[in-house]
Amino acid sequence: MIKGFIFDLDGVLTDTAEYHYQAWKKLADKLMIPLDREMNEQLKGISRMDSLNRILAIGNRTEVYSIEEKEQLADEKNEDYKKLILTVTPADLLPGIADLLTDLKAAGIRVALASASKNGPVIMDRLGISDLFETVVDPAELKNGKPDPEIFIKGAKQLNLTPKECVGVEDAKAGIESINAAGIFSVGVGTKEMMGKADYAVAETSELKLADILKKATN
Ligand code: BG6
Ligand code: MG
Repeated sequence: MIKGFIFDLDGVLTDTAEYHYQAWKKLADKLMIPLDREMNEQLKGISRMDSLNRILAIGNRTEVYSIEEKEQLADEKNEDYKKLILTVTPADLLPGIADLLTDLKAAGIRVALASASKNGPVIMDRLGISDLFETVVDPAELKNGKPDPEIFIKGAKQLNLTPKECVGVEDAKAGIESINAAGIFSVGVGTKEMMGKADYAVAETSELKLADILKKATN
């Protein structure tokens, strides 16, 4: 029986994926590294430093910067990102998410956040949904980021549930891999190509219906 839902944030609850892209794009432009939306798909779900390393790899700049310089570049991106998320309001919840969270609460299904973002709690406050989440996995305490299963395993543990009692919701390929490796039923939002490994996939968040998900997860 499903007793818990573990959500990714960026690209699932709200479209901050776009803000991450804009902030990385600004940095990449400054470094004269070509970054487009297609490459950006590979950055979804992975940590800030992993994202920077991938961008530097695109520009063949992997060996150029010291750890301190890389931390400075990542901070610079984060400062721009923090400015962009100041505009987030409850109206920025993606379609269908408010209803899904309401339905979960009504069904007594408990909810956790498993986002790689250190800005997660701020964004949840701005979206007005912090109270609906029982627990948030702290990404700063993870040894391994997505696609490693650690973050979703921790999410289930923090809910005091087994992986089989949980559903994980993701928009990133690395995230679906993480959920699957945790032994949790994976729900993907996105194109068939990106969500190929999800146990159940929909194209848009508006299609995330609790009854449909529970039916698939318990089949
Ligand atoms: C994930 C995003 O949720 O968080 C990634 O999908 C991002 O794009 C990662 O890099 C880390 O976010 P932050 O806010 O800690 O830089
Ligand atoms: Mg995401």
